[in-house]
Amino acid sequence: MKKQILITGGTGYIGSHTAVELINEGFDVVIVDNLYNSNAGVVDGIEKITGIRPLLEVFDLCDSVRTNDLFSKFNISAVIHFAAYKAVGESVRMPLEYYRNNLVSLINILDSMKAHGVENLVFSSSCTVYGQPEKLPVTEQSPIQPAVSPYGNTKQIGEEIIRDTTSSSNTINAIALRYFNPIGAHPSGSIGELPTGVPENLVPYITQTAIGLREELKVFGNDYNTPDGSCIRDYLHVSDLAKAHVVAVKRLSDKKNKKAYEVFNLGTGKGVSVFEALKSFEKVTGIKVKYTITGRREGDIEQIWADPSLANKELNWKTGYSLDDCMKTAWEWQKQVTKSNL
Ligand code: UFG
Repeated sequence: MKKQILITGGTGYIGSHTAVELINEGFDVVIVDNLYNSNAGVVDGIEKITGIRPLLEVFDLCDSVRTNDLFSKFNISAVIHFAAYKAVGESVRMPLEYYRNNLVSLINILDSMKAHGVENLVFSSSCTVYGQPEKLPVTEQSPIQPAVSPYGNTKQIGEEIIRDTTSSSNTINAIALRYFNPIGAHPSGSIGELPTGVPENLVPYITQTAIGLREELKVFGNDYNTPDGSCIRDYLHVSDLAKAHVVAVKRLSDKKNKKAYEVFNLGTGKGVSVFEALKSFEKVTGIKVKYTITGRREGDIEQIWADPSLANKELNWKTGYSLDDCMKTAWEWQKQVTKSNL
């Protein structure tokens, strides 16, 4: 039986783009998702782009019996673990739900990997583990700061659980990918981000304002110690990010990894302010976005961007899309979603 790559959370934003890139590279993909924050129709989008419909299993990975059964049913060679709750603000209100969901699912995955001799894991981590770094850009050696939200803490603890598991087991190898800010959508317009309710993140808020779903963008602070006073992030296209997962899976499968547990920053290496992001959107769409400047958002860090040189060198990976391309694809997707009312 051909080996499969298991993508947990594969109908989500980054998971679906990764499914596309893996299928395009000839991998067999199985998706597991509880559809908490996505819908089964995403599989249609993946099929439309690739011509291949990935298998979708719908259940919750906090169910250890069903998780183990899944590993019995398929011949899994690697797991890419995206499935997690991801809203920073919500995690402050519902810490136990976040710890239970994000950590129990990870432990169940690792248990099943051990039980079934599955050796390779790629973990979806975040630059949130660096907090507000003292030195920019951040490298993988930059100190980990105490997490400011339960969500961020689940990523830190998740990394520790994986690190300890790889060092205690002779079989499991893992790569944690620390994402900076993924934005944009697949250029086909068939998949993209589907935020439920009012978006928390900048780019979906911009596109929803531009299309008339939101009255105005609130810029959270213009009094930061940055050139234009707004916060700075490292925005990268979600398809670029997705491609790094394919490289990571191949690195583990070909046993090219240098340690049982490796960590890579995934970003462009360029810091972009909120106003610069807005300007890029307005330039490529020709739409003026109404905005007001409000107070700072609690928990926001002032500025962060990646030093992606380790990923550039070791994974032979770098971003290809420009900020303008990111905004163009995000806008095409917003129009598509609004038209078809997804
Ligand atoms: N922003 C606004 N107005 C909005 C939304 C965002 O001004 O309506 C600003 C924020 O203050 C911030 C920037 O836009 O300066 C980016 O904010 P996002 O919410 O898009 O992204 P964050 O950097 O806050 O968070 C993202 C992910 C998290 C992850 C974090 C790691 O959403 O899951 O990066 O730093 F933990």
